[in-house]
Amino acid sequence: MILVVGGAGYIGSVLVRELLERGYAVKVFDRLYYGDQGIRDVAERIKLQPGDVRTMDSSVLDGVDAVINLSGLSNDPTAEYNPKANYEMNTQATEFLAGLCKKKGIRRFLFASSCSIYDVGIGNDEKDIVLDEESPVNPKAAYSNSKYQAERRLLSMSGSDFSPVILRKGTIYGFSPRMRYDLVVNTFLKDALSKGHLTIHYGGEMWRPLVDVRDAARAYITCLEADEHKVKGEIFNVVYGNFRISELALRVVDALKEVDVKVEIRPDYRYHGVRSYRVSGKKLERTLDFTPAVSVEEAVKDMVENIARYRYSDFDNPRYYNIAWLKLLEEADRIIKVTGSVFDAASPAGFQPIVMRKSQGADR
Ligand SMILES: NC(=O)c1ccc[n+]([C@@H]2O[C@H](COP(=O)([O-])OP(=O)(O)OC[C@H]3O[C@@H](n4cnc5c(N)ncnc54)[C@H](O)[C@@H]3O)[C@@H](O)[C@H]2O)c1
Repeated sequence: MILVVGGAGYIGSVLVRELLERGYAVKVFDRLYYGDQGIRDVAERIKLQPGDVRTMDSSVLDGVDAVINLSGLSNDPTAEYNPKANYEMNTQATEFLAGLCKKKGIRRFLFASSCSIYDVGIGNDEKDIVLDEESPVNPKAAYSNSKYQAERRLLSMSGSDFSPVILRKGTIYGFSPRMRYDLVVNTFLKDALSKGHLTIHYGGEMWRPLVDVRDAARAYITCLEADEHKVKGEIFNVVYGNFRISELALRVVDALKEVDVKVEIRPDYRYHGVRSYRVSGKKLERTLDFTPAVSVEEAVKDMVENIARYRYSDFDNPRYYNIAWLKLLEEADRIIKVTGSVFDAASPAGFQPIVMRKSQGADR
């Protein structure tokens, strides 16, 4: 059985289906921050255990043969919003989970890292080269640094009884039953469909490595099934291609033309703290004969179809934007701690009904 931690998320919802299609038994352990919508229609075919990876009981690993860890805060804005939670979830919990696996004799451990580790920023021509797994990196942002620290801890645990594998994925695009519109291609598409235009920030000159969500899922399965000596303690970039954001916008517009959606491109030259990096995915091809296959254009057309089919055109729903959603949950959490419930009349602990004494004029 394969345990997918964070399996109800954007990538997890696609990966879980791919695993089921290949005949794997699947267990999902997830805090369900974004609900269970992404895995609801396969709920009968998987074991779902809600919970937080930081406090996961080792019994969750009973009967598990391999673990894929996709959990944690999954972008810059959420990591910067709560760096403590980010470090706990992305770095410490990954090490904790790996330790539990090691004790249980679960050897294969795949970790969801990110190409944002390679970010060199804009305006540094010397560093504007294609980087690979051997390139020195020095991630400073809370998110990329937490991923890098987790990588280092995992790699130091690699040995005769434990095989960690690191997948540094480019920014993902494509449809998932748990949709995200806060990823660049998906944002372009959402803007195109909802506003009729998409916006290129900072002239669009920054580079991004990208990959489709189904390709990312297949990359995980390739690493899961590979001979141990080829993957143990290895880092693999998972990248379909590197694109300047301006080119990406043109590709999205062209793909949409084919499905009769007309879109205008608007520039916004204000500085937005943009990331820029180019990354090679050749090692995965060389070592495991795996090449991502789904182009941006194909993914865009597929998203248009699936958004209609799954009715994910409520583009303003904060659920599709991790930072907006987590802030909303936090706010709701604060209110519910006082009120106890949204509609039930039950009095929560700590909620003191105001009883006025007669002398205070309660009967007047
Ligand atoms: N989406 C991308 O472009 C991208 C690119 C590179 C790397 N990654 C990494 O891949 C992984 C999956 O990304 P995603 O886009 O599916 O993100 P996501 O936010 O959609 O999914 C993350 C899932 O993990 C769960 N989770 C979060 N914290 C948890 C905790 N403490 N305990 C248990 N479950 C928890 C959430 O409920 C959610 O279902 C993340 O680790 C992310 O950093 C994503």
